[in-house]
Amino acid sequence: MPLSDFLDSLKDNPYFGAGFGLVGIGTALAVARKGAQVGMIFFRRHYMITLEVPSRDKSYHWLLSWITKHARHTQHLSVETSYQAHESGRVHTQFDFHPSPGNHIIWYGRKWIRVERTREKQMVDLHTGTPWESVTFTALGRDRQTFFNILQEARELALKQEEGRTVMYTAMGAEWRPFGFPRRRRPLSSVVLETGVAERIVDDVKDFIGNPKWYTDRGIPYRRGYLLYGPPGCGKSSFITALAGDLGYSICLLSLSDRTLSDDRLNHLLSVAPQQSIVLLEDVDAAFVSRELLPTENPLAYQGMGRLTFSGLLNSLDGVASSEARIVFMTTNFIDRLDSALIRPGRVDLKQYIGFCTHWQLSQMFHRFYPDQPTSDAERFAERALAAHAEISAAQVQGHFLLHKTDPAASIENVVQMRG
Ligand SMILES: Nc1ncnc2c1ncn2[C@@H]1O[C@H](COP(=O)(O)OP(=O)(O)O)[C@@H](O)[C@H]1O
Ligand SMILES: [Mg+2]
Repeated sequence: MPLSDFLDSLKDNPYFGAGFGLVGIGTALAVARKGAQVGMIFFRRHYMITLEVPSRDKSYHWLLSWITKHARHTQHLSVETSYQAHESGRVHTQFDFHPSPGNHIIWYGRKWIRVERTREKQMVDLHTGTPWESVTFTALGRDRQTFFNILQEARELALKQEEGRTVMYTAMGAEWRPFGFPRRRRPLSSVVLETGVAERIVDDVKDFIGNPKWYTDRGIPYRRGYLLYGPPGCGKSSFITALAGDLGYSICLLSLSDRTLSDDRLNHLLSVAPQQSIVLLEDVDAAFVSRELLPTENPLAYQGMGRLTFSGLLNSLDGVASSEARIVFMTTNFIDRLDSALIRPGRVDLKQYIGFCTHWQLSQMFHRFYPDQPTSDAERFAERALAAHAEISAAQVQGHFLLHKTDPAASIENVVQMRG
């Protein structure tokens, strides 16, 4: 029975002297309540310790995973689905469970810890456009060490999850957010490029990373730009991903045709990209068409539809100044559509054509896919493939092999039917 009902019932009680005592009880209750409030505030201030972590903090995502791991009995989860459509048409979705907004109680380090995840419905982070969120940890006592331990543990947990994996970041407003679960590293050798091509790029990048002093001694900004160009499906994106994995770097993926990208935002994003990461600008031709072609052929791009301007892009690329090695990779299917100002040295220091499969690549790919087959089969496959098709992309070959997963003979036999 609620207290007010109880008091009302007292009023009606004939045995209870009219009016008498009621005032007294009411006052006593009010005082008690006030006392309890003050006591609680005092208690909170002196015997409880809280830690608030806003969603913008780097450790926020680590802590969410940590909470999910520790609040194992919680039944209130929210889902974060990441969705990615690959060029090859493959769609990748991933469900990521997180503790839902609300309270969770966790037993940790012989203490009960209350974890409250709050999401402000009205408040939106102006930078990112996402709801403002935070998690607050509350524990009894005055010992901060528990919180340090939690943060430490959360970080280690996150790093362990990332070990041997490549973290992909995408731009959300003014910051970089990890996208989906870190992916297992793809070995460099799994991307079969023409002889010497992979080595050329890998050697250049490693040389760059290994020589910061050369740049600082000469007062040259410590950055390097790469452009991979050539027909689609030949391994540009795959190679960059594999390269990042090989270096232990993450990838910051940025789409220049993103309509919300402005000069300022690009500039900012490039300057705050996480350490040890490759900034990847895919299909740069899609955002900007060579200025000579404008405005008749492509009136939309580079005309203020997106607020990113061509000169803004150039400035951002030039302005990337950081003490960390800054590596920018660009890809395009159409190098001749690019403005020469974008790919001149200093912005793009190394250009590499990644083309259709050569005989060597075809036999290598066959050999990797069917390791038990004799070399002569791989040779025969390559020969027949090139005789039947003038231009073969590696993606096509991969699709063809998957069709004949367990039957290398049929794979050779049916090579004429290989489709793009
Ligand atoms: N050289 C290659 N070696 C092995 N696989 C490749 C190669 N090139 C492309 N692929 C496969 O084809 C698909 C598309 O490749 P992708 O790297 O996206 O091509 P691009 O970026 O050049 O358009 C991927 O699944 C990739 O595994
Ligand atoms: Mg690509």
